[in-house]
Amino acid sequence: MTSAFAPGKIILFGEHAVVYGRPALAVPVTQVHADVEVLDSSKDGIWIDAPDIHLHAELNSLLPDHPLAAVISNFFTPLSSLHPAKRGMEGQRGVEIKISSTIPVASGLGSGAAVSVALIRALSSHLDHPMTNEQLNALAYEIEKIHHGTPSGIDNTVITYAKPVYFVKGHLIETFKVGKPFTIVIGDTGISAPTKEAVGDVHVLWEADKARWEKVFDKIGEIVKKAKEKIENGESEELGELMNQNHSLLQEMTVSSPELDRLVNAALKAGALGAKMSGGGRGGNMIALVKPETAEAVSRLLKEAGAKNTIITSIHP
Ligand code: MEV
Repeated sequence: MTSAFAPGKIILFGEHAVVYGRPALAVPVTQVHADVEVLDSSKDGIWIDAPDIHLHAELNSLLPDHPLAAVISNFFTPLSSLHPAKRGMEGQRGVEIKISSTIPVASGLGSGAAVSVALIRALSSHLDHPMTNEQLNALAYEIEKIHHGTPSGIDNTVITYAKPVYFVKGHLIETFKVGKPFTIVIGDTGISAPTKEAVGDVHVLWEADKARWEKVFDKIGEIVKKAKEKIENGESEELGELMNQNHSLLQEMTVSSPELDRLVNAALKAGALGAKMSGGGRGGNMIALVKPETAEAVSRLLKEAGAKNTIITSIHP
């Protein structure tokens, strides 16, 4: 039996604009994770057991563009030509893959990317086919395209490398330093909202008025650069105002929602230094920057304002 896990993630600054080439900052969230076990089985075929999504199926019964089927076949296809001895998918007899995740689906915490990364890691170690993070990340990105249509690649990158990432689409991975730890409360609206739809809607807006939206993306890019500088210099209290500005621009982009705005406002009222939605939006999660001593109070007030769940996390060097 082989097992592997991958963390969730949050985007601190820059979602959506990152799809259009602007930078974004994201960090792993280890309080939630996807876990995969691969076992040899006496049953023929490759069996997938994912109780969280009520899936128990033999691989061949899934459509080829099912994200789990795609991860597995994209993993095996090059393997069979590179190492015939390790056999391709057809040659695999009796494998059971158990998938579980504590990351809520379609919530902005990277559930799809985390399952892909954990699954690839578990398969690569079960079949003794070591992969570099770069290879793993490239494979996970292919699956993100099924999940999201036109992903920037930020989710699979931060989850694969499991470290803070200053991400620019198509560039080599760049991490950032954290000058002084800071605390974030993550609040879940409990509303699942596919990233693909929000990204698609922003694309429609952009097509209709590129000049306007390019300016908005530029403003977000500037916020991201300032935020990176403040984090590196240990001036994290000053990130609050930048979060508020980023949230306003995301509202303008129509990707926030009444529920996200309600949680953002509740966090600010409870004493957070700043707050914004995080990820694709329209539902899913928001984040609030807090002083460590107010984290519990902000978390409680977020729940009173309707958050289904909260996570307190510290971003540290
Ligand atoms: C999703 O976590 C972040 C988005 O910017 C989409 C992407 O970058 O692929 C909304």
